[in-house]
Amino acid sequence: MTVNDNGITSTSINGNAIEFQSICKRFGSTLANDKVSFAVKAGEVHAIVGENGAGKTTLMRILYGLHKPDSGTIYVRGKEARIESPKDAIALGIGMVQQHFALIKRFTVAENIILGQEGSKFYISREKGNKLIAELSRSFDLSVDPEARIEELSVGEQQRVELLKVLYRKADIIILDEPTAVLTPQEIESLYATIERMKASGKTIIFITHKLKEVFRVADTITVMRGGRSIATMSVAEVTPQELSELIIGKELRVRGEQRVEPKNTEALVVENLVVLGERGNEVLKGLNLVLKENELLGIAGVEGNGQTELVEALCGLRRAVNGRIMLFGHELTGTPPWLLRSKGIAHIPEDRLSSGMIDEFTVYENLILGYQTEFSRAGLLQKNEIMNETAKLMDEYDIRPRDLEVKMKNLSGGNQQKVVIARELRKNPKVLIANQPTRGLDVGAALFVHNKLLEAKSKGSVLLISSDLDEIMELSDRIAVIYEGRIVGEFDKKDKVEDIGSAMLGGKGEYA
Ligand SMILES: Nc1ncnc2c1ncn2[C@@H]1O[C@H](COP(=O)(O)OP(=O)(O)OP(=O)(O)O)[C@@H](O)[C@H]1O
Ligand SMILES: [Mg+2]
Repeated sequence: MTVNDNGITSTSINGNAIEFQSICKRFGSTLANDKVSFAVKAGEVHAIVGENGAGKTTLMRILYGLHKPDSGTIYVRGKEARIESPKDAIALGIGMVQQHFALIKRFTVAENIILGQEGSKFYISREKGNKLIAELSRSFDLSVDPEARIEELSVGEQQRVELLKVLYRKADIIILDEPTAVLTPQEIESLYATIERMKASGKTIIFITHKLKEVFRVADTITVMRGGRSIATMSVAEVTPQELSELIIGKELRVRGEQRVEPKNTEALVVENLVVLGERGNEVLKGLNLVLKENELLGIAGVEGNGQTELVEALCGLRRAVNGRIMLFGHELTGTPPWLLRSKGIAHIPEDRLSSGMIDEFTVYENLILGYQTEFSRAGLLQKNEIMNETAKLMDEYDIRPRDLEVKMKNLSGGNQQKVVIARELRKNPKVLIANQPTRGLDVGAALFVHNKLLEAKSKGSVLLISSDLDEIMELSDRIAVIYEGRIVGEFDKKDKVEDIGSAMLGGKGEYA
């Protein structure tokens, strides 16, 4: 048994850090957790996997004191625990990095880490705070500048701040809810290194992910959830990826439709010498050229921060081009406002569904018709029956759960929110679909479904796919363009080696990790 400087013993008599016993949680008609029972051993990396809406986040929010279970018991290090708020959880040495970070944007890294420290009654000097943070950064391989403001940081850096915050509070049971969904491949590697350090220092890690590759890379033990239940807990050595994916979706994964339409020679979307400025007035796109053919799926590969976001925003009319032009089937689109672009056949699956894809407080049906209100209006009146019929059809087709037309967007699980955005954008058979990280947060079955949908969209129009998942790009693209420092620096096809693409992503310098 080890005791950390918090006075918290990190192992219990039976070696379990956490034990869930028959946890139930209902939201209205949805049974989100249904008699969930399993144990997390102290010092292990325990992955929780399962379909979108299976109840993973709900269970973790219960453990962190953000939801109160209807019934059931949680044992922490062998002792029955009452966790009624995050404050209770923190006092028990439990920390959580949620998918949407709770940092104060205008404050510095150090202020975010030290402030809001529950129970801290004494003043810590800036110098001492910075020193403590620097020590934690070093021990856990989490490099960030303590003096930087959160608003200046990338998503990956913000996640490191959240982790530091948890470590600063001396948590030794750390919950990570889909931490890799927002990271680039390089950042994922560095998160793995941090997880290994945390494990080596005796911490217990609970890790939610949809990527099976990650489960086999970092986890010791896996729990599968389905329909609110914990259906199996096993050691990674006991299961193959194929078996695991069948356990997750409860059936064999359908294979991808292999009938692919060949690209035509017609140019659908042409971007010429595009120059766009970033937030700080610097040139982010520096004369970018690309051509998307009709019936083509063009993948844009690149390390995050090389102009992908600005390219997508310029194509969607959300960011002004200071030079160059954008053409759709020979007609100039440069400077066209977003709503008009939509009516010209450009659809957009945004990278961050929370900030630009939907309205949290609206229902599913309201979100599905956002931007298409006129189509459902007669004499100025919205036709609710038509909207409801269309919504029911889309919810069936995209398997959006729960099947409740009036559920508020904010009450859907992350993956189901993503399905709503995709359903809305694909409904109109766009001429050009700009899909930015379209399968982020989707379970294996739903990701495969969306991949098939992207191929279908390509057979009816064209698709520009921006993804940090190189496997996804390789699998779906007819052609791959690599973006680096605001320009397309190379073009590849499937037959090219992944290493060559990786090397181009780094500007032709060095190895791709
Ligand atoms: N606050 C809430 N109000 C109503 N329903 C909710 C609420 N939170 C979650 N739910 C419902 O509970 C179920 C489980 O959701 P949860 O977020 O736990 O799933 P998940 O396994 O994390 O899925 P994903 O992989 O998509 O993130 C879903 O049907 C969801 O719609
Ligand atoms: Mg979730």
